[in-house]
Amino acid sequence: MILEDYLTTLFSQAFEKLSLEPKLAKVQMSARPELGQFQCNGAMPLAKQLKKSPIQIANDIINQVKDNLIFKDVTGVMPGFINITLNDNFLADWMNQMLANSRLGCPKTETPQKVMMDFGGPNVAKPLHIGHIRSPLIGDCLQRVYRFYGDEVLSDVHLGDWGTQMGMLIEEIRKMYPDLPYFDENFTGTYPIEPPVTVDELSEIYPRSSVRCKENENEMEKARLATAELQKGRRGYRALWQHFVNVSIAELKKDYADLDIYFDLWKGESDVQALIDDMVKNCLDNGVAKESQGAIIIPVAEDDKTPPLILVKSDGAVMYGTTDLATILERVQDYQAQKIIYVVDKRQSLHFKQVFTAAKKAGIAPNTELIHIGFGTLNGKDGKPFKTRSGGVMRLSTLIDEAKTRASLREQEGLSRNEKEDIINKVALATVKFADLSNVYTSDYIFDLDKFSQYEGKTGPYLLYSAVRIKSILRKLNYSVSGTLQYKISKATNDAERNLQLTLTQLPLALQRTYDKCEPHHLCEYAYQVAVQFNKFYSESPIATEENETTQKSRIALCQLTLKQLILVLELLGIEIPERM
Ligand code: ARG
Repeated sequence: MILEDYLTTLFSQAFEKLSLEPKLAKVQMSARPELGQFQCNGAMPLAKQLKKSPIQIANDIINQVKDNLIFKDVTGVMPGFINITLNDNFLADWMNQMLANSRLGCPKTETPQKVMMDFGGPNVAKPLHIGHIRSPLIGDCLQRVYRFYGDEVLSDVHLGDWGTQMGMLIEEIRKMYPDLPYFDENFTGTYPIEPPVTVDELSEIYPRSSVRCKENENEMEKARLATAELQKGRRGYRALWQHFVNVSIAELKKDYADLDIYFDLWKGESDVQALIDDMVKNCLDNGVAKESQGAIIIPVAEDDKTPPLILVKSDGAVMYGTTDLATILERVQDYQAQKIIYVVDKRQSLHFKQVFTAAKKAGIAPNTELIHIGFGTLNGKDGKPFKTRSGGVMRLSTLIDEAKTRASLREQEGLSRNEKEDIINKVALATVKFADLSNVYTSDYIFDLDKFSQYEGKTGPYLLYSAVRIKSILRKLNYSVSGTLQYKISKATNDAERNLQLTLTQLPLALQRTYDKCEPHHLCEYAYQVAVQFNKFYSESPIATEENETTQKSRIALCQLTLKQLILVLELLGIEIPERM
């Protein structure tokens, strides 16, 4: 039920009747609404070929369609554009069809696919900080949208648990507690069940060990060795490492739950270790990989200078790219993934280029579409990657707390403490999520909580406020959005009402764009337009005091449709609407 598609079909038929190329019949929303609601520019490119003036062609097309009752007005303007305005009754009918449809007129895919989404990507022992926020926000929105479309989605957090930082941690713990059995190669007993360190200790140990290794090549070498031994399966190291992973996962699950974000799979880089030997062997056997200076690499340069993907380092350790490649193999073999979407910082574009090319060369995922959604950086007001006032990175939990302190309640009366907390929490999440998702994901943006938490402008709180306002309007009139009593929307009685109806036709298109391009900002922009048009409508169109019963009922139904749409769109963005705020 994309209105533009419906209009385009009508125009294509007219084009065909005139033996004109129907592909040119595209109808879209008008860039100049004062001239018409929609436009078709198909006459323009035909002029040369037909040796006719574009306006003549436009008028021929108009003659074919103008008697259709769905149009109020179809006019050709110089040099050859066609402006289209719909009949108000048709528009109202369209609204009623949306209202009666459980999906509000939104399409479902005809070819559901198995889609795996790789987002989050946190690392063991490193607390989530502000730099980790974009991936889960964008990824979560995409998993919601894909599921809504009918695809079978599995999201995987893909924990960073197999790199050199694991060896660094092992060596650091050895320094702290050299007598622990994990370091005794002759130990054959069972290892302690209790972890030797808490998650908070881990988060201090990690930066300390990383500084030590960066400053001292000797220490780094030890860490590399420990990593290689861990990967080869040294018992004590595995047991110690398992503690790191367990305490980290417990903490991460809490952090993501605070964002109301959930993953189907909690796998990590380490999970594919068992696949790696065979994969490397196959790549060597079929000539895709080769040895180079003691390492094993896959050359991936096509007509550029892309550096090779390193599969195995000279010390036998595998790399970030190796586990990613093997994970593709696993996702194809065990999960029959037809599409894998990686939501990862665009600074990793080269990495994904290498991995995807290697996968293609090695024939690992011949029928699987591999997509990297590379998002931009979150910057401070100085245009550099966001830092706290003290120059550190802001923890994710601090970020949410900061958003909460900025969330204020509009109405306090009759709300319990729990209710207030719940509202504050919802507003804070809406603030952060909407601010992030409303950017074109590839762009960097300036993280400015003061701006994002305003109740005016294109912000999460403004949208929540608008939706809550509709809830309250309906509640006062004793209607709810889910109520069975449904009135008919009748033709608009003023411009604001008409504009709102027209805006509401655009939901399926906004959703389609988000789905096709993995771009959440279309939904954000749409939700914002709906809220703006609704608030204009409401200020010009009384409801409670409206005397004409048909008009009143129609406006109630329009409120219901608007609210239903906002609920759906915000849900797809991962944003919950409180009852009051
Ligand atoms: N752990 C990685 C990092 O911190 C991100 C993982 C992204 N996903 C992936 N399949 N490579 O950079």
